[in-house]
Amino acid sequence: MESTIKSTLVQSLGESNGEFVSGQRIAEIMGCSRTAVWKHIEELRQEGYVVEAVRKKGYRIMSSPDTVSAIEIQNGLKTKKLGQHIIHYDTIDSTQKIAHQLVQEGAPEGTMVISEEQTIGRGRLTRNWYSPKYTGIWMSIILRPNLPPVKAPQFTLITAVAVAKAITEVTGLEAEIKWPNDILIQGRKVTGILTELVAESDRINAIIIGIGMNVNQTVEDFPEELKTVATSLLIEGNEPSKRSELVKEILIGLEKYYALYMTEGFYPIKLLWESYSISIGKQVIARTFNETIEGTALGITDDGVLRLQDKNNKIHKIYSADIEMK
Ligand code: BTN
Repeated sequence: MESTIKSTLVQSLGESNGEFVSGQRIAEIMGCSRTAVWKHIEELRQEGYVVEAVRKKGYRIMSSPDTVSAIEIQNGLKTKKLGQHIIHYDTIDSTQKIAHQLVQEGAPEGTMVISEEQTIGRGRLTRNWYSPKYTGIWMSIILRPNLPPVKAPQFTLITAVAVAKAITEVTGLEAEIKWPNDILIQGRKVTGILTELVAESDRINAIIIGIGMNVNQTVEDFPEELKTVATSLLIEGNEPSKRSELVKEILIGLEKYYALYMTEGFYPIKLLWESYSISIGKQVIARTFNETIEGTALGITDDGVLRLQDKNNKIHKIYSADIEMK
């Protein structure tokens, strides 16, 4: 079915909040005959929507498939920019790679790439990111803040707050942030964030925020090497989650915290970030590009840089590192 027809149909049924909508009303909204409405409803059913039809009452959606298509995400999405333009794939090598191409083509702020599966998902520090089909959220969002490049790392922390909040809102699970970009539940990684910068020497052209979230995997679904370090929302909460709902919450939160940051600066984000942080006050090992430092994580600076105190009480500022909790 053509995607605009489908989108209008899903939206007109969705806006009735579980009430029936008459075939006549849908036909009016869509500007087609009632027979055409019936045909479109059949097509929706074939795509996994469960639609109840009752004579003299009309139609209502009982459940929709768990896809992260633009229609599912945009249905009822109340953001101004983020997610208003979505490119959805069934399978792709990496959403991050596509987002880079879109930046070069001038894609507007808020453009988002999302795929049901990634075949070459990219993690931080040239690692791979395991992205199996239909079970997680693999998405990249393009932002175009008018800021100098030095501010880019703060976007990882802004995103981490939005993601942690979205997890708690949708699942009730307590998500914690490990500096700078890991979201953990019960000490295991449920989400990673990859912030990439496209910039000139003094100005950001675009920031591409990649988010990878394990949602509905079982323990068996993870490869052996990830079983002890990674987890999913299903494993932690014993309940499957609707991925499109999580994506909506992430977009709403990210738009809100991004606006807050652009008007008030990093300080309010820092407070929120600290409220979710598990690193602060803990003994950690920080592996940077050229050294390994052990010490107590004191907190983050007003720019989002980690402060670490070693055993000689020397305070180090860590801009980028892999953190291991001791
Ligand atoms: C990390 O190493 O913790 C960051 C992982 C980021 C993975 C996401 S999944 C969507 C986007 N596309 C990619 O290829 N990577 C990011």
